[in-house]
Amino acid sequence: MRILLALLLTLSPVPALAWGAQGHEIIATIAAQQLAPRARAQVAKLLGSPAMLIHDANWADEVRDQRPETGRWHYVDIPLGAPGYVAGRHCPSGQCVVAQIVSGRQVLANARLPAARRAEALRFLIHFVADLHQPLHAADNQDRGGNDIRISLQGRRTNLHQLWDTRVVEAMGRDATRIAGSIMASVSPAQRKAWQAGTPVAWAHESHRIARDSIYPMVEGRRSLRLSNDYLRREIPATRQQLAKAGLRLAWLLNDTLR
Ligand code: ADE
Ligand code: ZN
Ligand code: ZN
Repeated sequence: MRILLALLLTLSPVPALAWGAQGHEIIATIAAQQLAPRARAQVAKLLGSPAMLIHDANWADEVRDQRPETGRWHYVDIPLGAPGYVAGRHCPSGQCVVAQIVSGRQVLANARLPAARRAEALRFLIHFVADLHQPLHAADNQDRGGNDIRISLQGRRTNLHQLWDTRVVEAMGRDATRIAGSIMASVSPAQRKAWQAGTPVAWAHESHRIARDSIYPMVEGRRSLRLSNDYLRREIPATRQQLAKAGLRLAWLLNDTLR
């Protein structure tokens, strides 16, 4: 059965939709370690066990095909040249990741709502806080967050968005638990305090700024480019920091919501 599943996974052309599965696993692992006892207990009750926080981190990507209306909830297209997020312009009718985090949190906080509804809000929240920290999930240059920029790297073809969903994370290794531990060992108490702050809008601005100042300049307006072999290695520090921020903020938000 496991062999069959592994075969199906390697054969099916699963599109990378957000931080790849590994990025989400690392972020959820960091968050799980930071949960307060009350939040941990409520997560366990809603999802079935504490470990489901990690297990369900990719659920929102898995249901995207069956629920096409949720596709736009994974990102917010803030134009590269825009000074900042404007809800009415970049998130009409709440159809973006910023608004979905805010509304999901309200559902999760409301203990009068059916448990199944709150559990679904929690599954989305675990995923969307992570997605918002992928810089290209909060930026757009009329290229669907880099999906339309063809990239050649180390002899392989991909696109700019995919590269940041998966390749920069995979460049750190393949063991999500080990990577989460290594990342958290390098975060100082002062950093943790500084990062467990802000709002989804502020987090979107951080991502947007990284995309604008550190990712897009090398594109130079092209639709197709070849990157140097050490590109992924050079982006590891920035990627580690985004994964750390996402995990710490997810825990912070859940601890505050599930008191
Ligand atoms: N589709 C359109 N814009 C996108 C973005 N910024 N991220 C992911 N998918 C998108
Ligand atoms: Zn996603
Ligand atoms: Zn993505």
